[in-house]
Amino acid sequence: MEERIVDENMQAEDVFEQNIRPQSLDEYVGQTEIKENLRVFIKAALMRTEPLDHVLLYGPPGLGKTTLAHIIANELGSNLKTASGPSLEKTGDLAAVLSTLEPGDVLFIDEIHRMPKFIEEVLYPAMEDFEIDLVIGSEGKSRNIRIDLPPFTLVGATTRAGDISAPLRDRFGIISKLEYYKEEELEAIIKRTSRVLDMPISLDAAKELGTRCRKTPRIANRLFKRVRDFALVEGEACITKETAEKALNRLKVDEYGLDNLDIEYLSSLIKKFNGGPVGVETIATSIGEETSTIEDVIEPFLLQEGFIKRTPRGRVATDKAYNHLKISHNETLF
Ligand SMILES: Nc1ncnc2c1ncn2[C@@H]1O[C@H](COP(=O)(O)OP(=O)(O)OP(=O)(O)O)[C@@H](O)[C@H]1O
Ligand SMILES: [Mg+2]
Repeated sequence: MEERIVDENMQAEDVFEQNIRPQSLDEYVGQTEIKENLRVFIKAALMRTEPLDHVLLYGPPGLGKTTLAHIIANELGSNLKTASGPSLEKTGDLAAVLSTLEPGDVLFIDEIHRMPKFIEEVLYPAMEDFEIDLVIGSEGKSRNIRIDLPPFTLVGATTRAGDISAPLRDRFGIISKLEYYKEEELEAIIKRTSRVLDMPISLDAAKELGTRCRKTPRIANRLFKRVRDFALVEGEACITKETAEKALNRLKVDEYGLDNLDIEYLSSLIKKFNGGPVGVETIATSIGEETSTIEDVIEPFLLQEGFIKRTPRGRVATDKAYNHLKISHNETLF
């Protein structure tokens, strides 16, 4: 993922995110199973006045992991402290965050798969026994100290569950995979955003957005914002389907919600590699993207929607991909 650069633009974006981000489990749309389980676990933890078990959330970007971490803290009535895997460079960085925790707090570590191994090892006793062992002082004069921590809940988020070591994964009591959203859930999210931003949207326009947002709430909200701009300029008091369609076409989002990158991936797979099978690194090179972007962002959606298949020999384009790109199988066989 890109590093975040803080500029004015980004801050406006942050304010927008804050306003439309649901604050409670009741406001959080979809992910029903995760939500209902969490409801029970949170209630039980509160009844026992014990911290909630550590929670690992994984799944593609924009499906609501960070949002859920905030909600867990809200529902527990506790504070959320945040850190991210790559920002924890020294054991001291982790110790510094841990030392700010108060009893029952939630520590959210985003991109937890990018945490260095030696920091992970400091985290184990913190997760298990609420204590950490630190080595302080310089070589020759160093000594070990043990620091007791208040009971807390670690919420880890990652787009790559496969990159999490087994010992770390085993220390999470609750492991949840976030799924792509159903169209009616996306519609509900869009209607909610429309209410929060005080810009009405017609039912069929909300449906249109719901089918063209890659089944991802973040994209749904981003598209809503752009479509709202078009409606404003057109002088519409309520976003109509025509305006939504026009805006989405201008934004080059097709009827399946595929964007430029998805299309580039599919046409490379079909035109340059005869539809596969081909290795992910090869495709990455051919379209000039990071392998991790392809594996974490592009492929999960194309797989779920049946545009590609994963085989032991590499990725293969399906008939649905050929049809969607309007290419016949024979055309590529020259
Ligand atoms: N279940 C939901 N209901 C309503 N809105 C949601 C839901 N999930 C996510 N959103 C909206 O989508 C936006 C993106 O969600 P979020 O930042 O939590 O995703 P993420 O999984 O943490 O992504 P990343 O992997 O990129 O960090 C949020 O600002 C929120 O407004
Ligand atoms: Mg996030």
